[in-house]
Amino acid sequence: MKDKIIRMLRQKDGYVSGEDISDVLGVSRTAVWKTINTLRDEEYIIDSSSRKGYKLIESPDVLSQVEIEPYLSTKYIGRNIIYYDTLDSTNNKARDMAIEGAEEGLVVIAEEQTKGRGRLGRVWTTPKLSSAAFSIAVRPSIKPEDASGLTLIMGDAVCRAIRKVTGLNAKIKWPNDIIVNGKKVCGILTEMNAEIERINYIVLGVGININVDKFPEDIKHIATSLNLELGKLVSRKEIVAEVFNEFEMLYDDFKENGLKNIMDEFKSFSVTLGKKVRVISINEEFEGEAIDITDDGLLVVKLEDGSTRNVISGDVSVRGISGYAE
Ligand code: BTN
Repeated sequence: MKDKIIRMLRQKDGYVSGEDISDVLGVSRTAVWKTINTLRDEEYIIDSSSRKGYKLIESPDVLSQVEIEPYLSTKYIGRNIIYYDTLDSTNNKARDMAIEGAEEGLVVIAEEQTKGRGRLGRVWTTPKLSSAAFSIAVRPSIKPEDASGLTLIMGDAVCRAIRKVTGLNAKIKWPNDIIVNGKKVCGILTEMNAEIERINYIVLGVGININVDKFPEDIKHIATSLNLELGKLVSRKEIVAEVFNEFEMLYDDFKENGLKNIMDEFKSFSVTLGKKVRVISINEEFEGEAIDITDDGLLVVKLEDGSTRNVISGDVSVRGISGYAE
């Protein structure tokens, strides 16, 4: 009922009468009035006049379905958002729902995560109402070995969205960190369940530091947020909706054509290319210069002896020898 009332109020610039709302929704005027008060408790600013009815003055910057949808231009990504105030991890929830048969493009969003997970077993912190934490479940008909391309697609989508909404010069540290002014603003955790030949589901988890004012001492030299870089608050719902808009376009193209159509752009967004990197995997560690990214999304690293190695994103950590400054 809350969402229906918000949608009705939004449709009109002026006031909507309590009677109209109760007629359309088939509920009593007292029920309408109670729901309006609940919305006010949730930071909606709604004016009321005994003669004219209700008028929506301002909506909070929350990441619910009803708040994100005005900014969406997608067909399916973000059209079904499962929204939580608090959750352990949106990736865990999206995984559980995918196991139970969730449809392609289902989105799980939480305003706060208590056990957010990063890559390589790291912890990812999502402070309440100031970041974005969401996961998208997809089931592309591609080979499991091509799935890492999805991380690149998502990175590209986040980069485009940040550029479009804030004008900040967002870049990508291969494969999946989004960097602004030399510091990380976003991480992506892609998790897959597959058989040898066939993907059952993939969960793409995205954490974006949007309006975070302070970072812990141990990471503040490498982490930042969009508002710190821009010097003003950034609309979280616009950023998230724009990521969905960009992701859907890129993902539809990826299913048809692989990565080839975005590779030029992806390379132009890269802070990794041309840099000295250290590649750390479970089995080995080596240094070299990142000289290219293949059409399959592999990082080409030139070693000191002149030989090259193609690095798969999987379980590797790529460190810039001198940070990831641009
Ligand atoms: C990284 O940079 O290590 C990846 C961080 C990914 C964090 C996101 S927040 C939403 C989703 N849920 C999680 O538990 N993790 C991802």
